[in-house]
Amino acid sequence: MNILKEAKLCFLLFLMGVLCIPVSGKKRAENFRVVDLRSEYQVNPIGIDVSPRLSWRIQSDYRDFSQMAYQVIVASSLTKLNEEQADVWNSGKVLSSQSLGVSIYNKVLQSRQRYYWKVRVWKNTREFSEWSAPAYFEMGLLSPQDWKSGWIGYVPGMPGRVLYFKGTFVPRKTIKQARAYMSGIGFSELYINRKKVGDHVLDPAQSTYSKRVYYVTYDVGKCFDKAANSIVVPVAPGWLGTPRLRMQIEVTYLDNTTEILTSDRFRSVTSGPIVSSTVFDGEIYDARLETDKLYAPGIPPGLMNKEWAWAHNTDDPVGKMVAQKVEPIKVVERITPTLKQEVRPGTYVFDAGRNLAGWVALQVTGQEGTKVTVRYAETVYEDGTVNQENLRNAKSTDTYILKGGGVERWEPRFTYHGFRYFQIEGLPGKPRKEDIVVKVVRTDVPRTGSFECSNPLLNDIHKMIVNTEASNLHSVPTDCPQRDERMGWLNDMTVRIEQAIYNFGLSRFYPKFMDDIQDTQDAEGTITCVAPYRFGMRPADPVSASYLLLAQKCYEFYGDKRIVSEHFDGMKAWVDYLYSRTSDGIVDYSYYGDWCPPRDFLADPNGSGVSKDTPGKMMSTGYLYLCSEILSEMASALDKQEDAARYARIAKKTAQAFNRHYWNEEVGGYASNNQASNSFALYLGIVDANHIQRVVDNLVEDVKKHNYHLTTGNLCTKYLLEMLTKYGYVDVAYKIASQTTYPSWGFMLKNGATTLWERWEFLTGDAMNSHNHPMMGSVGSWFYKYLLGIVPEFTHPGFEEFTIKPYMPKELTFAKGSLETVKGTIRVSWKRERGMLMLDVTVPENTKAKVYVPGKDIKMITEGKRSVSHVREIICLPKEGDFTVLSVPSGNYNLRCKL
Ligand code: BGC
Repeated sequence: MNILKEAKLCFLLFLMGVLCIPVSGKKRAENFRVVDLRSEYQVNPIGIDVSPRLSWRIQSDYRDFSQMAYQVIVASSLTKLNEEQADVWNSGKVLSSQSLGVSIYNKVLQSRQRYYWKVRVWKNTREFSEWSAPAYFEMGLLSPQDWKSGWIGYVPGMPGRVLYFKGTFVPRKTIKQARAYMSGIGFSELYINRKKVGDHVLDPAQSTYSKRVYYVTYDVGKCFDKAANSIVVPVAPGWLGTPRLRMQIEVTYLDNTTEILTSDRFRSVTSGPIVSSTVFDGEIYDARLETDKLYAPGIPPGLMNKEWAWAHNTDDPVGKMVAQKVEPIKVVERITPTLKQEVRPGTYVFDAGRNLAGWVALQVTGQEGTKVTVRYAETVYEDGTVNQENLRNAKSTDTYILKGGGVERWEPRFTYHGFRYFQIEGLPGKPRKEDIVVKVVRTDVPRTGSFECSNPLLNDIHKMIVNTEASNLHSVPTDCPQRDERMGWLNDMTVRIEQAIYNFGLSRFYPKFMDDIQDTQDAEGTITCVAPYRFGMRPADPVSASYLLLAQKCYEFYGDKRIVSEHFDGMKAWVDYLYSRTSDGIVDYSYYGDWCPPRDFLADPNGSGVSKDTPGKMMSTGYLYLCSEILSEMASALDKQEDAARYARIAKKTAQAFNRHYWNEEVGGYASNNQASNSFALYLGIVDANHIQRVVDNLVEDVKKHNYHLTTGNLCTKYLLEMLTKYGYVDVAYKIASQTTYPSWGFMLKNGATTLWERWEFLTGDAMNSHNHPMMGSVGSWFYKYLLGIVPEFTHPGFEEFTIKPYMPKELTFAKGSLETVKGTIRVSWKRERGMLMLDVTVPENTKAKVYVPGKDIKMITEGKRSVSHVREIICLPKEGDFTVLSVPSGNYNLRCKL
């Protein structure tokens, strides 16, 4: 477009603008609106215990929407909100593009109070949106004094036993509203008049109970009858050991008087049909023990007999009460399994179709006392029976004993299993399809990413990774869901975080896990190998950079600055501790390092997962460098300049020590010059500029030497793929990723995997042989970060600005996918066809993207038939290497470029 044409267009736009301005000079715009209002990343939460950060998204019919200003009003009732009476808070018109983390300033929020809010935004001085639809948040119990109930338990409770606590409630008047604040630990469920309240399972979220206990708030206003109501709470040992209950039900009557029913007035406790239930071993349910007395209103007479006992008040066994912020665990999917084989007469083995976490629900008819068992496993023996060897000490068996006399339906409540196959014994007849359902159980976080490309193998790998991650979200990110472990290992998390945060919405899950980590920290600053701490070592292996990476990713992906500032001191203490463990700049300990490389690269092929070629202390030192760097960046974001400088200094010194000790001038690589050491050093970004090419060459050479196979463990696999791609060898990275021979993800798939293995080998025996282990899945983030190229920016958190820089291996003809972000959906799709590259991207409202197009000449890149240099919204930035860089505001763009 020449200058004259441009001037004409500008004039036309100007005229259109003038004509659109109403007499008042202000216009309520219909072409953009505010949607998806959230408080603390939740839609209309009840029972929160922090002053919520508010957020919203904008939908616009046009390109280039950026918010110039916003106004939030908060009212104490919906009527007031509708009348725009902001009796709680009025932000006024704030000139800002902020749509995340907006705090309600100077307001002390009251326990139990519900607050209503809405928001409107301005695009420019003249155009503003309608008010959004109203949203609300309701506070929980904010101070310890709000807790009127103490804890109860039953000290003689036997290990593994589920205790049923019981109370009765007779309302005095007509109920207007009721809330149950409830914490039964290990796991519990609330039944009012025989009906379960809500659809959570395995509540509350696990924690370090001596530091913090989660409570869940339920709206129980509609659960009560006028007459006597029975309230029964079965509590299982879960991760605590001895069941405990603390609950209060707060009732507001129509006349606004209130009544609080506390569980420490529940005097009766009994055992019931769930005879025992533990996380690893499974559940035993004896339906013959069901009795109407349990759920019928009224306290049973004759307490302290064989059946009923007094529930005892126990001393406060636990830490502070905290509202559960993480999504609950739920049944998220139901699968009809296929009958694989009748392995012996009356013994049936079923296949759920994929490895997963959950349990089996049964429907059965038979004689009283018939015992049905369900044994869960990831693999089967040659004769078709289930192989439970790799579950180690976990019995993973559920048992149901029939009461007889009709159809009986049952599923376990307080355990879960990791399995693909299950073996049922004792069924009274042949199982029918409709009698058996597999329930998939996990923390109910949303899926946020999608990925697809022209190679079906990579699509299957992506699916396998998503299945694995989904199997390992149970209020903590577990290492595996099946054996006697299921722990939040921090070393695995170091490389898992990014994969998971592209695939799932973890804005509430990760901050919860950070609290778990913080709860393990001691006065010296040490954290532990797993959080909550039930396993492994203290201090944690220094490769547990996940504590800092979690904060960094929450900041980048969700704009969560609070998490950074809340944990800043804790992160600092951990880094200080690591620094105190250096000698000549090298961290003096390591347990796991780059854990579980292929067998030939293990220090002891029949022992643990320690690598023979990748020095553990090198890994420890590298992570001290990385953590110091991240801490320095976070300090800058928090405006803590002194800390920023101090940790930058530590980082620099550590990088020097790393180079001094591990750079091998003779070979031109690090340590043993293996894939792990070289890719790790490159990833850290500490390789001397003059050495980079040699290191990259050595890396590529080594990959070729191994016939395009990796030799890396859980950590460095990530860095290997990323560094090859970054330094111009995306085709080499692609070859590794799309291998089908050992060791590779394709090899797992070829051997029937539907979830990732813990080892590169196919092993089913009694050791570290999980078949559902996320730690090897970092190729999952390579799909998003490199093949789609979606990368957030630390300096513009919450996707305010981000990068789209797709790398395109020659063997792929297309890749496409999306990411649901806090600002809206990012979409990327690229395709090569007849010498043309088609790159379609969607940039959400109120964000900006730098789009890297692998085009040599800007004139060759078009958008809607025009050269991009003539598209009003697009700004062409200086070229970077082989990429042309475009800065684009919100909108859909269909870029075309001759190859
Ligand atoms: C866990 C792994 C972890 C390792 C560290 C194993 O038992 O399952 O995921 O990396 O221990 O030692």
